[in-house]
Amino acid sequence: MRTFTRKRALNFSRNQFERMTFPTLMRSWPLFIFCATTTRCNLACTMCPREHLKQTGDISLDLVRSLQPAFERAALVFLHGIGEPLLHREFKEIVACVSKTNVARAFNTNGTLLTRDRVECLIEHNVTYVTVSIDAATEPLYSSIRRGAHLEGVLEGMRCLNDEKAKANSRWPKLAFEFVLMQQNMSELPALVLLAREHGVGVIRVIDLILHSHEDSGIEEDWAEQTVRVDSELVRNTLARARRLATDAGITLVLPERFSNGRRGSRNGHARVPFCHEPWETVYVNFDGKVFPCCASTECMGDLKKTCLDVIWNGDAYQRLRANLKSGRVPRDCAECTSRRTRSATYRTLMMKRLAAWGPFKGGLSWKA
Ligand SMILES: C[S@@+](CC[C@H](N)C(=O)[O-])C[C@H]1O[C@@H](n2cnc3c(N)ncnc32)[C@H](O)[C@@H]1O
Ligand code: SF4
Repeated sequence: MRTFTRKRALNFSRNQFERMTFPTLMRSWPLFIFCATTTRCNLACTMCPREHLKQTGDISLDLVRSLQPAFERAALVFLHGIGEPLLHREFKEIVACVSKTNVARAFNTNGTLLTRDRVECLIEHNVTYVTVSIDAATEPLYSSIRRGAHLEGVLEGMRCLNDEKAKANSRWPKLAFEFVLMQQNMSELPALVLLAREHGVGVIRVIDLILHSHEDSGIEEDWAEQTVRVDSELVRNTLARARRLATDAGITLVLPERFSNGRRGSRNGHARVPFCHEPWETVYVNFDGKVFPCCASTECMGDLKKTCLDVIWNGDAYQRLRANLKSGRVPRDCAECTSRRTRSATYRTLMMKRLAAWGPFKGGLSWKA
């Protein structure tokens, strides 16, 4: 598996360098590309804004193919948006297309469709990470949040993936969990760590509940009560327990930035900045070709049916957004966003570090023009 080509390495270092000054015009291409493969879903999770999307559909294979120059430079490509990626009829072809560029590739899934043939495809094409979204460790709470799914069915799919990996003697894909932190499920986080240990999960990413309050989503106001407070002793104790269990099990537990210990900056030299990093490193490509700076923004940066990604990346909308963020004129979407990323010691950077430790760069870098 080759992920670190010369083109990619150059783009990565350029982007790291540019994120010291945060220019409005970028020389580097996006490091992280989200391809919202489909907005259709087989579940109706209580906190998810999907049901309220105005338009739903599947990304076309041609659109994915048109992104190949960007994949060749990116560090990581995510094959999900809001919707269940494994429902896409051509998901296998999409995976095959992305894997041709040797970029690290990952996606989040509700885990209900991890059938043997899909799992074989993920292994064949060396998908790097599969993140299973699990918001509870017991069936009653799990199925009350993830409406339409049962915990045992998801765990069965994960066992299938682990078995097939063992048969194929493959280290990929690595498994992760994603847990949306809410008042109602916080107490089950320690038990989730134990579940992760049992199912070969190396990373648990705990994320804050995003309160989608735009007109095209419908998360109601009272969801604000589900937001977990940093200053509660119960919260601190529960998280401390989960951390201890994770450390003992050798699992990396990634908590939202607001629960971190107040460290300023990160080891790679990126200072914490008072604005979100996303517009300098990420693009979110919707199924219909519209490009957004992240999954939470409704501000369209351009349309891939009319313009190439590299032109959109440095187009007027992106330049204006970057300039506004830098000068404190924060757009409404960004001001309301709870998952703002203000430093680079985040999950994606961690994934990159993990990749380096796990292997594709080990035993000598593989340089390819
Ligand atoms: C929208 S889902 C799409 C992928 C797939 N269907 C799944 O459930 O993993 C991507 C991630 O967003 C999370 N999510 C859903 N609603 C959310 C919300 N209101 N705030 C934060 N994350 C949310 C899900 O738990 C999941 O991990
Ligand atoms: S499975 Fe994913 S996309 Fe579907 S409703 Fe749940 S969180 Fe939303």
